[in-house]
Amino acid sequence: MTDETIFCIDDFERLARGGIQDETFQDYLYGGSGEGECHQRNIDSLKKILLAPRACAGITKRDLSKKMLGKTLSCPIGFAPTPARGWLYRGAEKCCMELACEEGASNCLTIFSASKMEEVVKGIPENEGVKLICTGFLGTEEHQLEVMERVEKAGLDGIVLNLDRAVPGRLRSEAGGPIKSAIMKKIGLPNLPKDLFQAYIKNENVDRTVFGDGCDTWEQVKWWKANSKLPLIIKGIARASDAQEAINAGVDAIWISNHGGRQLSDCPATIDLLKKIAPVVKGTGVELYIDGGFRTGSDILKAIALGADVVFLGRPVLSALACAGDDALREMLKILKKELDIAMGLCGISSLSQADESLLWYPKKK
Ligand SMILES: Cc1cc2nc3c(=O)[nH]c(=O)nc-3n(C[C@H](O)[C@H](O)[C@H](O)COP(=O)(O)O)c2cc1C
Repeated sequence: MTDETIFCIDDFERLARGGIQDETFQDYLYGGSGEGECHQRNIDSLKKILLAPRACAGITKRDLSKKMLGKTLSCPIGFAPTPARGWLYRGAEKCCMELACEEGASNCLTIFSASKMEEVVKGIPENEGVKLICTGFLGTEEHQLEVMERVEKAGLDGIVLNLDRAVPGRLRSEAGGPIKSAIMKKIGLPNLPKDLFQAYIKNENVDRTVFGDGCDTWEQVKWWKANSKLPLIIKGIARASDAQEAINAGVDAIWISNHGGRQLSDCPATIDLLKKIAPVVKGTGVELYIDGGFRTGSDILKAIALGADVVFLGRPVLSALACAGDDALREMLKILKKELDIAMGLCGISSLSQADESLLWYPKKK
């Protein structure tokens, strides 16, 4: 990885796309539901908010650290869960976890990851990074208890429940034949309870076989909170009223997400959802995470200024892995930290706790 080829996060995607020959696979990784409108909206809406520079702030050093689930991250950045990491190359999941933790960031596996959670976490010091795994209400309550126990024993720091896939969104890449199913059956799903994987082998639809009929309820969230010893994070929240439900259910963190624009194509951009949701969460002690279209350190600062604690990235992690594995992933974090540091310096703040809406500038519509 050299500075000549990579200047910003989008360069990883450009390079990665050039190397992925199979167009359908490329579309699966980078596309969104419908015509990709929601994915593009996430990116465009971030660009519609600007940052107001401040002069003579007298700041020489910036502190990028943030608290997350009782730990201190060196930067407010996490890798969002995507099963596809392990399809790019063997060992990619371990690389993501090791690197994120080494750099003081967070990483989230999924229950559909190609590597065993125990192996991914093995050897990483307990105090480094924040290690998460994402699942849904899979199978029966017994299956869910089995997963909970396994996650606790493996040494992860929290469980993420994904609530935005009650019905799978319609992706163009999936129209000609489900790529996901084919690859998962071939590679295996070592984090699923064995009988669920066996059932899935006989069935085409991984989501429905594993997660059932999509009839998710807040009672189930409360059941998870009552049964899990680990912090519980709810991913896929897009309404202030749902954030309030999650708070009532006792969750530890809320993760605003529209699944990277892969579910409801008419969903608003996550940065706009953050403006509605942050006031509900503020002062409750519940942490607030976000993802969807974040590609620069400035984008990250905007979310922090609006009340987010940690910002996650999905596709850029896949792009970096596809370009040059851990070297590229390290470079990606380095670039984001540098950009965040510069944006903080130019906006005149020395710590992220000083980031608030006074930093933001909304151009007037003509
Ligand atoms: C190829 C792909 C697969 C994904 N699979 C999952 C998944 O299994 N579970 C999940 O919670 N989110 C999944 N996501 C959504 C990401 O976790 C994250 O919300 C999204 O990618 C963030 O947007 P960004 O890619 O613009 O950064 C997936 C995203 C992509 C691109």
